[in-house]
Amino acid sequence: MPDTARTASTKWDANLYLKFADARMRPAMDLMARLDPANGARPGHAIYDLGCGAGNISRILAERFPESPVIGVDSSEDMLTKARSQTTMARVTFEKGDLARFKASTPPSILYSNAAYQWLPGHIDLFPGLLEALPSGGQLAIQMPRNLDAPSHSLMRQAAEAGPWRDKLKNVGGVIRVDEPAKYYDKLKPLCADLDVWESIYQQVLTGKDPVAQYTASTGLRPYMEALEEAEGKAFYETYAGMLAKAYPMRADGITLFPFRRMFIVARRA
Ligand SMILES: C[S@@+](CC[C@H](N)C(=O)[O-])C[C@H]1O[C@@H](n2cnc3c(N)ncnc32)[C@H](O)[C@@H]1O
Repeated sequence: MPDTARTASTKWDANLYLKFADARMRPAMDLMARLDPANGARPGHAIYDLGCGAGNISRILAERFPESPVIGVDSSEDMLTKARSQTTMARVTFEKGDLARFKASTPPSILYSNAAYQWLPGHIDLFPGLLEALPSGGQLAIQMPRNLDAPSHSLMRQAAEAGPWRDKLKNVGGVIRVDEPAKYYDKLKPLCADLDVWESIYQQVLTGKDPVAQYTASTGLRPYMEALEEAEGKAFYETYAGMLAKAYPMRADGITLFPFRRMFIVARRA
């Protein structure tokens, strides 16, 4: 059983997360492009969007697979409320659930997950069980950021240690380190007919003030901000944003490039 004790807080802010929806959508679409249309036409089966957030991708999955029910699963009430309020297709439904204990209520043909499992410690041990829940030919498709060594994340830790907030932030657990692709390959290969594991580094184009800090504010930075009172949180944020401005300088045209490494897994059940 994986250790879920450090699973991230469920206090997600859907509006803040959606601020960078375009940059976040591209890897989601690159992952979706690898799904087999035949898996959208299996009677009695559903496509799951695991860690569906505000349901943006659940709705696109439903457009892409018009014959299949799509079920979004998430543990955050804020995200689920947003997802339900923005979804009109009866075929798309949402369930509250913890991915650490996920059991499909309808047999799945595709288990898709974009940018969610990096929040679960020991997630690699959950993946064989997900594959085993699929019929032969069914697909497990997962994307996770693998950017912890980039300044956006290392400076978070540095800023946490650089002020009077140090003690309050010392035990904050953020996203979990996602291992190298080969580890996932070795774990899943015995169960697969096909397995493709790869990485891409996206040169994300951001605009505005503190763009990288704003980007991480809805994800990796969130547990740090939640641990501090408002005024102290603001001071910590300013320290972090100041460090980031040097690491990710604004270019002559006003754009800030934020390189971001992501890992993809597309596994087809044997
Ligand atoms: C970065 S967002 C991604 C949302 C969506 N997949 C997307 O790409 O827009 C991560 C989502 O994972 C959800 N999440 C994190 N840990 C979870 C868990 N243990 N069980 C269910 N959902 C979880 C969060 O609530 C959040 O909505």
